[in-house]
Amino acid sequence: MDQSDGDAINLFDPAVAACPHASYQRLIQEQPVMRAPLGGAVLVSRYEDVLFALRTPETFSSEMSEQMALGTERPMIPQQIDPPDQTRYRKILDPHFSRKRMASLEPMLRKDSQVLIDRLIDQGECEFNRSFAIPLPCQAFLHLMGLPSEELGLFLELKDGIIRPHMQTSDPEEALRIRAQTGKRIYAYFEDLIEKRRRSPQDDMMGHLLGAELGGERLSQNEILDICFLFLLAGLDTVTAALGCNIAYLAANPEQRGTLVGDPSQIGSAVEELLRWETPVVAVPRVVKKDCELGGVEIKAGEMVMLLLGAANLDPGEFETPEAVDFARGRNRQIAFGSGPHRCLGSHLARLELTVAMQEWHKRIPDYALKPGESPIYSGGIREVQYLPLVWSS
Ligand code: HEM
Repeated sequence: MDQSDGDAINLFDPAVAACPHASYQRLIQEQPVMRAPLGGAVLVSRYEDVLFALRTPETFSSEMSEQMALGTERPMIPQQIDPPDQTRYRKILDPHFSRKRMASLEPMLRKDSQVLIDRLIDQGECEFNRSFAIPLPCQAFLHLMGLPSEELGLFLELKDGIIRPHMQTSDPEEALRIRAQTGKRIYAYFEDLIEKRRRSPQDDMMGHLLGAELGGERLSQNEILDICFLFLLAGLDTVTAALGCNIAYLAANPEQRGTLVGDPSQIGSAVEELLRWETPVVAVPRVVKKDCELGGVEIKAGEMVMLLLGAANLDPGEFETPEAVDFARGRNRQIAFGSGPHRCLGSHLARLELTVAMQEWHKRIPDYALKPGESPIYSGGIREVQYLPLVWSS
C-alpha cells in the first residue's frame, strides 16, 4: 500500500465522524501507519504501535509549538512537556486525583445529577447536551477546585471561548482573537484566585498547588496558571462527549439499555466498554524527535504523528470481536485515557462522573429514545454528539 495514498480516510468528514468504526478497521487492516496526503501527519492506528509511541516519549514528544494555539501563552502543564520534568509535576498532581480522593466527590456528583434530572424529567424531552451532559462535568470541576457553583456560567463561557470560538463568529481571524482574549481572561481569573488563596489559605486544589514543592521550591505563579488552564480544557468537554455518546448509543440500542436498567451493577463495565467503543479523544498528537521506524514505516525527525486511540481500541490484535459492544467483556485494556507518562490525570474522576450520571439517569429515566424525525449530530476531533434530542414518557 502506498503510504501517501490519496484515498485517505477523513476522520473529520461528518459521515465518518458519525460512525468511524468501519474506517478505523480499514486503517488497521490496510494502512496501519500512513502518511496523510499533502504533508499531513502520520496516522498510527494499530494498538501495539499506538501503545509503543505513547510509552516512548523520548522519540514521540508532546512538546510542540503548534499545540500552543489554544489561547495559551506557555505550554500547558503537564500535557505539553516531556519527562523528566513532566514526571515531577505528575508526582505533585497524582495524589490529588487518586481514586480515593475522587470518591469523596461522589455524594456531590450524585446530588448534582439528581437536581439536573429534577429540572427536566416532567418535560418528557430534552436536548441532552444542554440540559445534562454539559453542566454536570463543569459542576464536578468546580467541586474539584473548591469553587462556588455560581461560577458555572462563567466557566462554560470560558471553555467554549477556547474550544469553539467559531460558535460566536464565522471569521477565522475573529475566532483567533476570541481565543486569545478568552485565554487572558482565564489567566486573570486564576491569578485572582491565587491571590485570594494566598491571603486566606484553604484546603482545596489551589491550596495544594500553592503548598506543593518541586525540588525544594514552591511552584511559580506561572506554573500554577499553566496547570489550571489545562484542567479547565481537559476535564469538561471530554466527559460531556463521553456522556453524550453513551446515551446516544443506549437510546439506539434499547435491549442493551434494558440490561443495564435491570442490573445496574453492570454500569461500571458498560462505561468501560463504551469508552472503548466511542473513544471520545479520537487521537493524540506527538512530534517525532529523532528518525525512527514504526510499523515498518520510516518517520523523520520533525514529523507530526497522530496516535489514533479510537482505532487502536478496535484492533482485533488486542480485542476479541472488537466490533461487538459487549458489556460483559472480560479483559478490556482500552486506551481511551491514553497510556504511558501522559495517561489521563483525571481518569478516576471521569469514570466516577460517568458511572454516577448513568446510574442516576437510568434510575429516573429508564426508557428513552431519540426524538422521532431527528438525528444526533456527531463531530470529529473530539468525538461528541453535538445535538442529542431525547424523549421519554413523563
Ligand atoms: C471521559 C473523559 C476523559 C477522557 C476520554 C480523557 C482522555 C485523556 C487522554 C487520552 C489523555 C492523554 C493525552 C496525551 O497522551 O497527550 C488525557 C490527559 C489528561 N487528562 Fe484526561 N480525559 C478525560 C477526563 C479528564 C478529566 C475529568 C480531567 C480532570 C482535570 C482530565 C485531565 C487530564 C490531564 C491534566 C491530562 C494531561 C496528563 C499529562 O499530560 O500528564 N481528563 N486525558
